[in-house]
Amino acid sequence: MKDPSFRRSLTLFRALRNERHDPHTAYNLLARDAADQIERYIRLDGQVVADVGGGRGYFTREFRRRGAQSYLFEPDLSELAAETEPGAIVADGYLLPLADGTADVCFSSNVLEHVRDPGTFLSEMVRVTRPGGLIYVSFTNWLSPWGGHEWAPWHYLGAERARTRYERRTGRAAKHRLGENLFAIGVGATLRHVKRRGDIEILSARSRYWPVLPTAVTHVPGLREFATWNLLLLLRRCS
Ligand SMILES: C[S@@+](CC[C@H](N)C(=O)[O-])C[C@H]1O[C@@H](n2cnc3c(N)ncnc32)[C@H](O)[C@@H]1O
Repeated sequence: MKDPSFRRSLTLFRALRNERHDPHTAYNLLARDAADQIERYIRLDGQVVADVGGGRGYFTREFRRRGAQSYLFEPDLSELAAETEPGAIVADGYLLPLADGTADVCFSSNVLEHVRDPGTFLSEMVRVTRPGGLIYVSFTNWLSPWGGHEWAPWHYLGAERARTRYERRTGRAAKHRLGENLFAIGVGATLRHVKRRGDIEILSARSRYWPVLPTAVTHVPGLREFATWNLLLLLRRCS
């Protein structure tokens, strides 16, 4: 699908809205889309890819399908117990079992908002990437309409209130709790952090799903916190 385009955004939006009922369609689509985004910079065939916080393995499967040697690192055994590619490695993104500069591509989709210390998490991704290699990081920022995850968009009224409301309305325990496994990460703060670092250059900072001007939206302080939805950073490790 052409990126950006209204057709692509609409297709992704529909699939993600239906994610609870049909996760295979949603995540296979997202995985193909992410692989296409990477292949604008580097062909996956023959590359070593580290998929950090890879969950159930949809992305790793797609990278392998395109000829990459992809390794999935995931700390949550319940994620791994669900459908996962063979050869997943139980590991925390803060301390990856990889030597410096091993990966041609270090990939992390929707993990940064789940870690308490995103700067250290990012440093570890940089460490394992070879000089000149690509780093793909995307996350849902807190003020995004999806920021509260299963209790969105009620997080705008406060996290605890939104969480309680979700549990009352659905009768299900919420998966996320702010400050425990979900953190209020911002677009501006993350961009400032990345720009201050001397070990990576920004190739692209964009909204992952937007149909028009996906990079422009990330330049407008204030607005970007609400309108970006999901920030995608494509970074190159400096030599
Ligand atoms: C929303 S899921 C995203 C899964 C997959 N990357 C995707 O985009 O579908 C967040 C994932 O981050 C993982 N995670 C949380 N903290 C982590 C950490 N410190 N290191 C690596 N992964 C972590 C979780 O276990 C979970 O699988």
